[in-house]
Amino acid sequence: MIAIRRIFADRFIAVLMLLLLWHYFSPWAIVVQRRLESFDTASKSDESSSISTKPAEIPQEPSRGGDYIEEKLGGSEETFLRLVGTASKPPNISRDGAIRMMYHIEKGEDWLDLIEGQDDHIVQRYIYEKQHPPNCGSQRYLILNKFPGDDAFGLGAIVQRISDYLSVAIQTNSILLYATDTPPGEHFLSENGAPCGRSLDCIFQELSNCSSKAQKGMTSNIQSAFSGEQLDLDVEAFLAKHKYPIPLVFEEALKKIQPDVTREMLKYWWRAQAAAYIMRFNRNTSRRLKQFRLGEDTKQLGIQWDVDGNPRDVNVSFPLPEGTISMHVRHGDKGSEMRLVPFNDYVVRAEKFTAENPLGNWKRAFLSTEDPNVIEQMKTMARITPFSYSGSNSRWTWYWTDIPRLNTGPETQLKEFGNRTDLTIKWVLQLVMAIECDVFVGTRGSGWNRLIDSLRCTWLASCKQPFLEVGFEDDWMGYGP
Ligand SMILES: *[C@@H]1O[C@H](CO)[C@@H](O)[C@H](O)[C@H]1NC(C)=O
Ligand SMILES: *[C@@H]1O[C@H](CO)[C@@H](O)[C@H](O)[C@H]1NC(C)=O
Ligand SMILES: *[C@@H]1O[C@H](CO)[C@@H](O)[C@H](O)[C@H]1NC(C)=O
Ligand SMILES: *[C@@H]1O[C@H](CO)[C@@H](O)[C@H](O)[C@H]1NC(C)=O
Ligand SMILES: *[C@@H]1O[C@H](CO)[C@@H](O)[C@H](O)[C@H]1NC(C)=O
Repeated sequence: MIAIRRIFADRFIAVLMLLLLWHYFSPWAIVVQRRLESFDTASKSDESSSISTKPAEIPQEPSRGGDYIEEKLGGSEETFLRLVGTASKPPNISRDGAIRMMYHIEKGEDWLDLIEGQDDHIVQRYIYEKQHPPNCGSQRYLILNKFPGDDAFGLGAIVQRISDYLSVAIQTNSILLYATDTPPGEHFLSENGAPCGRSLDCIFQELSNCSSKAQKGMTSNIQSAFSGEQLDLDVEAFLAKHKYPIPLVFEEALKKIQPDVTREMLKYWWRAQAAAYIMRFNRNTSRRLKQFRLGEDTKQLGIQWDVDGNPRDVNVSFPLPEGTISMHVRHGDKGSEMRLVPFNDYVVRAEKFTAENPLGNWKRAFLSTEDPNVIEQMKTMARITPFSYSGSNSRWTWYWTDIPRLNTGPETQLKEFGNRTDLTIKWVLQLVMAIECDVFVGTRGSGWNRLIDSLRCTWLASCKQPFLEVGFEDDWMGYGP
């Protein structure tokens, strides 16, 4: 009796195991799951095509100083959403033409011309129009003050934080402006007595062609404030709750194209769009960039190894030759936040790429970094991988800019090297030269690399070109804080 029972028990366990194995590994189980998933996404896309309703998680009644926004998609949002997914005309500007345009910016509209026909040009136009209304009198403004301790931040970090406020402004039908007494990122600018004060409006296109009296005299313990038509929203509480806010209109738009777009992608995409809007440099900056780019007040340097293995100086062409590889080596103070990737890893990754694509790529790279040791290392580096493994040519041609470098955080460098505005523009030049390139080696764990990625994808057509990640996945999952 006992023996029979045991046999039953054994059989039962064996059958159970088989069932479990079937459940987890049978192709049929996978098919069933796929069907369920596609059913899910189908029902989601149904929802998103009947827009104009507010999302379910946003409560109906806003309370005083609440941490949520009741958002309705109005006429301009409906118009925007109708444009999403319609085929746009291909850009009529060549690669070189687009690069040259960035060095010839005269007015804000030039940026719209530059990106006309790019994937997301309607997004930039929408933000531009929100921030540039036909009349300023009846508007609500969101005024942004300096962030606590923001002089420890790099440009990438500041822009990323401003993008949260730009999102709130769009969602609340307000216009974002910088405070003038203590604006965010003032440490990037020298005192110059201009009406823009020390705000980013001095080097970038003004956020808006409206201004508000409330920009002046904001006390330092306030982070942001509405002026004009009031709104019961505690912006900081809202941001603390919704960590990476993307305006609803853009979330709807992306879901229309890709119903299962991930939250990470929404966050990364919005930051790219916001950075591209916030950082449109103005006429003065564009002119200064051009001077630096062509070697006035700063040197553009290049070396190439000849067949005897001796380095010789070469000129840096304008724009950089097609197919140039951008390497941004993030060292500096970043070691406290992420593991630093040695310069060799960048070069090996790029050599592997050129070996895999020998017909389309010469070994030519533009190097940017704040670490002077990386520049010294580069000057002695003809190649890493053995010649037999190399693709098109065996030795590297290196390009770089002779800007002052100190392997520290931004504020130490700004203090050290004199004219803050000029140094900031030299850094912006490093970004612009990086996006003159066509292949990108870097790590998304670094805000500066994310900026390069953001700007190449919104300002230029080079988003379809490869980005080669050299970092550790753990460092960039979630694309930074
Ligand atoms: C691109 O097209 C616009 C109008 O569609 C035109 O005004 C502009 O001159 C064109 N640009 C170039 C470089 O051909
Ligand atoms: C702001 O700029 C936009 C676009 O350039 C223009 O249509 C609008 O009239 C301007 N608004 C004011 C108040 O000047
Ligand atoms: C641009 O430069 C001119 C002349 O140097 C100056 O008057 C003007 O205030 C500058 N504009 C900005 C926005 O800084
Ligand atoms: C580099 O530029 C200088 C100045 O424009 C020119 O004289 C020189 O011939 C150029 N060198 C090469 C290798 O093109
Ligand atoms: C600092 O650089 C800016 C931008 O190039 C320039 O307008 C300004 O005159 C410079 N200031 C000083 C004190 O040299």
